[in-house]
Amino acid sequence: MKIYIVGAGPGDPDLITVKGLNILQTADVILYTDSLVNDELIRKAKPDAEVLKTAGMHLEEIVDVMVDRVKAGKMVARIHTGDPAMYGAIMEQIVLLKKENIGNEVIPGVSSVFASAAAIGAELTIPDLTQTLILTRAEGRTPVPEFEKLRDLASHHCTIALFLSATLTKKIVKELQAAGWQDDTPVAVIQRATWPDQKIVRTTLVNLDEDMRKNGIRKHAMILAGWALDPNIHDKDEYRSKLYDASFTHGFRKGVKP
Ligand SMILES: C[S@@+](CC[C@H](N)C(=O)[O-])C[C@H]1O[C@@H](n2cnc3c(N)ncnc32)[C@H](O)[C@@H]1O
Repeated sequence: MKIYIVGAGPGDPDLITVKGLNILQTADVILYTDSLVNDELIRKAKPDAEVLKTAGMHLEEIVDVMVDRVKAGKMVARIHTGDPAMYGAIMEQIVLLKKENIGNEVIPGVSSVFASAAAIGAELTIPDLTQTLILTRAEGRTPVPEFEKLRDLASHHCTIALFLSATLTKKIVKELQAAGWQDDTPVAVIQRATWPDQKIVRTTLVNLDEDMRKNGIRKHAMILAGWALDPNIHDKDEYRSKLYDASFTHGFRKGVKP
């Protein structure tokens, strides 16, 4: 007995994986996060599938339905936004399902962090600039563990992607400045990446809070910060990877003498 936990992708219904779509179209029962998953995608389920919206349900209600239907021999798919591994709250479901001897298979999805990078044509790891991406959130009502405070993470001066932080921009600016980030550090905010009403705001650290307010962005937004987000980076050719360097040899290509 198992349930399928499927990543729906960031919004565009075409951004689910082939495997995820096959499961969605075969499942007898579908539970989905209706606040973030596109209804257009869910309409691809088979016509007689039982479809439940979970935004208004609490954890035990959701798990009870899944247990009941799996035990009745139904194929159950739990559809989560983006990739289920990022802020998907899947572990608490898995733990309760395990108590009922129900296993799971997770099908990954396109996380909003990568859909957001794609929306602005950004590479988040630029050779010689940064080779690290930190996925995190600013501390608000949900606490962040002591060793993961934003100013400590920011001390690496790499690219930082902030989920669930659209209302916490004042704090973000303060924390990054405390870590020595310059006021003109580029920041890109992508709201509802890949949805028809997607909004992109390019700003700088010092202007982030005001630009969020001006654009009325308070939720459903990805904040990408760091010099990899420099909107003019396309005009610079000093950041080249070793991988495609003519003089750099590797298993698939012999070096060319300059
Ligand atoms: C509960 S988390 C889920 C993240 C999801 N598992 C993922 O991988 O994208 C919700 C947060 O993800 C981000 N998010 C989700 N979908 C988004 C989208 N289409 N565009 C921008 N940010 C999005 C926002 O920061 C939002 O507050």
